[in-house]
Amino acid sequence: MELADFVLAHLPNPPARILEIGCGRGELARRIAAAGYDMLAIDPEAPEGSIFRRVTLEELDEPGLLDAVVASRSLHHVVDLAAALDKIAGLLGPGGVLVLDEFAHDRLDDATADWYWGQLRALAAARGTTAPPSLDQVISEWATDHEGLHGYGTMRGELDARFQQVDFSWEPYLYRELDGVAAEALERMLIETGAIQATGYRYAAENR
Ligand SMILES: C[S@@+](CC[C@H](N)C(=O)[O-])C[C@H]1O[C@@H](n2cnc3c(N)ncnc32)[C@H](O)[C@@H]1O
Repeated sequence: MELADFVLAHLPNPPARILEIGCGRGELARRIAAAGYDMLAIDPEAPEGSIFRRVTLEELDEPGLLDAVVASRSLHHVVDLAAALDKIAGLLGPGGVLVLDEFAHDRLDDATADWYWGQLRALAAARGTTAPPSLDQVISEWATDHEGLHGYGTMRGELDARFQQVDFSWEPYLYRELDGVAAEALERMLIETGAIQATGYRYAAENR
């Protein structure tokens, strides 16, 4: 299922006020607005447009309650996750909805890293560039690249303290880092057979 369809399936029917945090280039926010919602999408790098505002969640000063908050691959970046989730819970009315598409960098085990390395080698061969020379190097670069970002364990604990989960699925993620060399369908199949770990997830919940 496409991310926008997953998000729309969990939103209350319009009219409703929706906030997207960390909207990036704004594709998801535009899809939600086009479905008839009163949309505000924030990101320090947000594009131009009436539904966008160039602020961080921490800077956002929004009066009135929201019906839903959506975040795709942004919450694991916020510095103070507990404060961010407290703010989201405060912005949502009772029963307000939180929908996330997220990344679990702490689930890259050796088998998953080994598969990822193979894909990096294929990408390097296709481009005539150099891949990391060893699995240890892949694992060490992964740790450096994701230092300071919240992993699944931290996210889960902070989410469960504030929200009641209504939907959850593990999802392929590494294909997104591989510029199309690895197919999403292949990564999904390997996850389903247990050969590698999922490093993405989708989550929907209600404000407690
Ligand atoms: C990996 S990008 C994801 C962009 C987009 N949501 C997507 O899925 O393609 C993370 C985004 O979160 C934004 N971001 C990071 N911290 C933020 C914060 N505290 N408040 C709002 N946006 C934030 C970044 O500027 C960046 O655009």
